[in-house]
Amino acid sequence: MNSSRFEDPIEAGEKLNSRSLPWPTDWRPLFGTERPLILEIGFGYGHYLVHLARTYPDHHVIGLEISNRCLSKVERWVKRAHLSSVRLIHSTAETALAHLFTPASLTQVHINFPDPWFKSRHEHRRLMQRDTLDVLVNRLAPDGLLYLATDISEYAEMSAELLAETPGLDNLYETPWVHQMPGRVMTKYERKAIAEGRPCYYFAYRRNQQPAHVIVEGRELIMPHVVLETPLSLEMLYERFQPFEYNENEMHIHFMQVFRGDHSLLFEVFVKEVTIEQRVALVLLQRQDHPTELTLQLSTLGYPRPTIGIHKAVSLLSKWLVDSHPETRVIKHTVQSELVNFVG
Ligand SMILES: C[S@@+](CC[C@H](N)C(=O)[O-])C[C@H]1O[C@@H](n2cnc3c(N)ncnc32)[C@H](O)[C@@H]1O
Repeated sequence: MNSSRFEDPIEAGEKLNSRSLPWPTDWRPLFGTERPLILEIGFGYGHYLVHLARTYPDHHVIGLEISNRCLSKVERWVKRAHLSSVRLIHSTAETALAHLFTPASLTQVHINFPDPWFKSRHEHRRLMQRDTLDVLVNRLAPDGLLYLATDISEYAEMSAELLAETPGLDNLYETPWVHQMPGRVMTKYERKAIAEGRPCYYFAYRRNQQPAHVIVEGRELIMPHVVLETPLSLEMLYERFQPFEYNENEMHIHFMQVFRGDHSLLFEVFVKEVTIEQRVALVLLQRQDHPTELTLQLSTLGYPRPTIGIHKAVSLLSKWLVDSHPETRVIKHTVQSELVNFVG
């Protein structure tokens, strides 16, 4: 990727986003200095985040949020308060932990009142679960701390079980949780829970010497592209296309629709992986010097990141093309065959 687009995003007034930051991110240029990193996941209205920044002036504090409203509000607050040690990132925890952070890079992780709709069991993928916790433990530095708070008793029970089954973490309390944490600044949800008479459950864990699960850093793969030879015209392929889906474990790929351009077709594709969701365009271009040859590639519109899911999408579309006529064949490709079982 062109690194120049990552220069001085703060100066440029750009919002930081896990889709546009380098994978993994070198935090030094973003903060200007190197200090231990503290992460808050889902900072909401930011009271706890600001408190963290003021309590640990010799650390850098990174806040993750998926709500644009919260991001804008807290960004204004951070600016007004001149909190130069804080950076806010528009990202899910799953994407940031897997792709932005390197192993053992975080000294503290704070999670306050996640998944308030846990009980209604929406489609929602809950934050506290095995694979996300394993990545989190991998990203915690030796002796690094994990703090979690919730006001949902079932969520507390589920988290207690999950944390107890995590060999890389030691409970700092003698009980699975405590109901009081003296000195703690209250978050918006916490204040509401207490006002409504709901008990809060606080967890504190320390990273021990046990090896963490080996989690490969979610680096980018190369840009996938495929060159095919086919007797079919783009017009014929356009006519043949029908939306289709692919589901495997937690990967979901939806080939939604196709658009016609000059000497090209553009396929709109939704790719959902455990750590990231992307809506991308795959472009099928007629090669100018060889009209019977087509190039299939990822459009660079927006910030598509070439993940395993994107390689799989290119592989599946390439298979659809090959299956569409017996004389269609793949001439060359850069799809990571060993990861996605490329059929060409
Ligand atoms: C119930 S609110 C709690 C907000 C704040 N921590 C508090 O205690 O007042 C949960 C927050 O987490 C954010 N959130 C939900 N899922 C997330 C995810 N996967 N990654 C990052 N933030 C998330 C939501 O946008 C929301 O602001």
